[in-house]
Amino acid sequence: MMSPTSVGNLISCICLAMAIATVAQPVLDTAGRALQPGVDYYIKPAITDNGGRFTLINRNNSCPFFVGQENVSGPAGLPVTFAPFAAGATVVRESRDQMITFSASTTCVSSTAWKVGETDRVTQRRLIVAGAPASEGLPIRSYFMINRVEPERAGVYSLRWCPTEVCPTCRFSNCGPIGALVENGKRLLALDGSVLPVVFERRA
Ligand SMILES: *[C@@H]1O[C@H](CO)[C@@H](O)[C@H](O)[C@H]1NC(C)=O
Ligand SMILES: *[C@@H]1O[C@H](CO)[C@@H](O)[C@H](O)[C@H]1NC(C)=O
Repeated sequence: MMSPTSVGNLISCICLAMAIATVAQPVLDTAGRALQPGVDYYIKPAITDNGGRFTLINRNNSCPFFVGQENVSGPAGLPVTFAPFAAGATVVRESRDQMITFSASTTCVSSTAWKVGETDRVTQRRLIVAGAPASEGLPIRSYFMINRVEPERAGVYSLRWCPTEVCPTCRFSNCGPIGALVENGKRLLALDGSVLPVVFERRA
């Protein structure tokens, strides 16, 4: 038999858990610290043998560059910075929209911000490309969310496109996670397929 006090404790405990669940949690890096806007992080697969850190890929000797991965895990790769859609955000939160930009430049004049491309003719997938946000209308193709892969465990995430914070009234029928796509030995990142669980490693 539970005493009234322990039932009360249980209820307040459940209420606290529910209150925490409704507030978007900070996304954590590999050291357990909240991700900060404007700071450099490497994105890499949570599981080995899934390629290396994220980087820019020259897919076909032409512009734009594509968002992809190094072939093997190791020190190579490019860091990114996060820019939350929410004005004045001091941490990057789960299930919120942000722009993601490589801290690098390319020979293409385009920006190194991530953007969802048109459905690719060759792969029939929407690849993630490097490019500036739309200058007209809402830049919905340039915002990405970070979600936990396992609800009860922080630290391992999936990247997802579903810009409902940028456009709360939009009804997106084509939301989805970002996964890897290997083409001619090059690892590209794309929607419309698998999901690649990732972790965020702050640049030393
Ligand atoms: C790469 O470029 C060649 C020549 O322009 C073209 O035929 C081929 O379809 C392109 N491949 C991809 C994957 O876009
Ligand atoms: C991965 O390997 C492929 C095939 O050898 C190569 O074309 C590509 O440039 C490599 N990717 C990186 C990021 O070095």
